[in-house]
Amino acid sequence: MTPSILVLNGPNLNLLGTREPDIYGSGTLAELVDGLKAAYIGRAEIVEFQSNIEGELVGAIHEASGTHDGIVLNAGAYTHTSIALRDAIAGVSVPVVEIHISNVYQREAFRHGTMLAGVCLGQILGFGRVSYSLAVEALLRHIKE
Ligand code: DQA
Repeated sequence: MTPSILVLNGPNLNLLGTREPDIYGSGTLAELVDGLKAAYIGRAEIVEFQSNIEGELVGAIHEASGTHDGIVLNAGAYTHTSIALRDAIAGVSVPVVEIHISNVYQREAFRHGTMLAGVCLGQILGFGRVSYSLAVEALLRHIKE
């Protein structure tokens, strides 16, 4: 069966396209998701959800259990602060890849910490929007193993 991958985006990622385009690029989130869906036809079902609300992201992680085979998670700023998201990831058996568009380690010190990486399968960052497809590839390989 075709694996189902949840691409979960946190706060401010709905602003892709207009938000700091020098860092995040000029394409929209819808374009990014459409591109992923098209690239993985037949290999993965890509389902996307974005929320600016921490609790909704926690809920999406809970619901992914038994529904999706993996999660690509760009938790935005919650990456650096959210024990609730960390606990949600630790509490389900779905593999999660933490991703970032930018290389957070080249940016402000407050972006260098991650609450999430320690409970994720792995972390991919700094490859612009390609970070998303690299994470899908990593999950598909992991699922096959
Ligand atoms: C981000 C990096 C975070 O530090 C920031 O708060 C974001 C986007 C990225 O994709 O590069 O919202 O996760």
